[in-house]
Amino acid sequence: MTQDEMKQAVAQAAIEYVEAGTIVGVGTGSTANFFIDELAKIKHKIEGTVASSEASAERLKGHGIEVFDLNSVSEIAVYVDGADESNKYLHLIKGGGGALTREKIVAAASKKFVCIADESKLVDVMGKFPLPVEVIPMARSLVAREIIKQVGGEPVLREGFTTDNGNIILDIHNLEIMEPTKIEQILTNITGVVTNGLFAIKPANVLLLGTQDGVKTIT
Ligand code: 5RP
Repeated sequence: MTQDEMKQAVAQAAIEYVEAGTIVGVGTGSTANFFIDELAKIKHKIEGTVASSEASAERLKGHGIEVFDLNSVSEIAVYVDGADESNKYLHLIKGGGGALTREKIVAAASKKFVCIADESKLVDVMGKFPLPVEVIPMARSLVAREIIKQVGGEPVLREGFTTDNGNIILDIHNLEIMEPTKIEQILTNITGVVTNGLFAIKPANVLLLGTQDGVKTIT
């Protein structure tokens, strides 16, 4: 199975978690795109979606799927999204596509978070994938200095990239994340940080992992 076939398989498996008549939270990235394409096949069964990025909203609308503003929605039954890394506790690194803030918001508003990923994303210790941090532009240097002081690693500006919220991303390289919840909390508390890409304080509820032996469900 290729990596794309594994992504497609987990996207199909995630449809099982979509309940008729509910609103579905939709993530961002190549795996989430496979899910959007699967969701299109059952679009008449759901009430609509809330998207975690402009890109996903466009893809959903392209399929004729209704996209609601989060503020007009009282409950999201399930949030389905990919990840850049996951450990066995379903702590995640997200934000490779730069959508981490809206992803964390939609995940927080959802009753259940189903993460979909191919097997390359499952790691013992997170941090090989540079940890994204969304930052208010004027605080870039301050935040970079505080990151080095408080958690270590090497924050690197994601060149030529602006988030959907008009902010910048610092990717923290060379950070071995032994205590994900602690690092998430410390980064959250740095003034000028909007969001960091660790989803550990509120991890995923289910990980659907695409492997050569089929889709594995980890809870
Ligand atoms: C975007 C994300 C994505 O979920 C993450 O980057 C995984 O992407 P892909 O499915 O393309 O590997 O967090 O901000």
